[in-house]
Amino acid sequence: MPALTAPPPPAAPPRRFPPPSPQLELPAVAFFGRTLAEYAQFFALDLAALRHRDVLDVAAGPSSFAAEANTRGIDAVAVDPCYTQSPDELAALVEADYAHMLAQMRARPRLFRLKSFSSINAAEADRRLAAQRFLTDFETQRRYGRYVGGELPRLPFFDGTFDLVLCAHLLFTYAARFDFEWHLAACRELVRVSAGEVRLHPVCGVDGKPYAGLARLRRELAREAIASELVRVDYEFFVGSGSMLVLKRAAL
Ligand SMILES: C[S@@+](CC[C@H](N)C(=O)[O-])C[C@H]1O[C@@H](n2cnc3c(N)ncnc32)[C@H](O)[C@@H]1O
Repeated sequence: MPALTAPPPPAAPPRRFPPPSPQLELPAVAFFGRTLAEYAQFFALDLAALRHRDVLDVAAGPSSFAAEANTRGIDAVAVDPCYTQSPDELAALVEADYAHMLAQMRARPRLFRLKSFSSINAAEADRRLAAQRFLTDFETQRRYGRYVGGELPRLPFFDGTFDLVLCAHLLFTYAARFDFEWHLAACRELVRVSAGEVRLHPVCGVDGKPYAGLARLRRELAREAIASELVRVDYEFFVGSGSMLVLKRAAL
């Protein structure tokens, strides 16, 4: 007699390991940083125009932006929750987080465009230089207030303290860790401490996809008289990271 049902498909061979995730796996916010040259690209900064201006770098990590900006006459301050730690603790954090992040990058080359670098090795060398400059500067300048311990969504500064507020590789990048309400509160807080603009980069997650809550975030901010503009920049490191979000209190 013919069979009434098709025989079951052969069982898949057992898989000993799960397939590697196509996106970066970042179990915690990485203490990983970039140079002023890279900031200038992804924030489209006119460095000459920033001389004698007060600039705040939020979630600054081991970036050398504040150290390098001050040598150019820009009054830059950096804030990060890790700045309550000692220089030795931060050096150890750099070692651990750089090793993890670079291994992730090398395992998923398709996620990267590397527009400003010839290779991941070149990007690594540049970012290690950033961390070295940061660690040297942190040691001498933290006592003068250039490096401040603090975290979003509450920053330890008065309203309108800074002409320009920058925040890179925290909002949107770590959307899996921080929910929509946190992003909204963080944007409000960044605008509160700024007398001018806030610039955020990138506007995508570690999977290269635009932040899913972006349209809603911009609507909510507009309701609170905070104007937002998505601006393309001449930079792309992660796939999809070629833009910044500019926030400004709208004129009443
Ligand atoms: C990937 S690093 C980015 C460093 C730098 N902005 C850059 O783009 O090179 C992210 C930083 O965000 C900091 N961070 C984590 N949670 C934060 C929060 N709630 N508020 C501010 N910074 C935070 C981490 O300590 C880390 O140094």
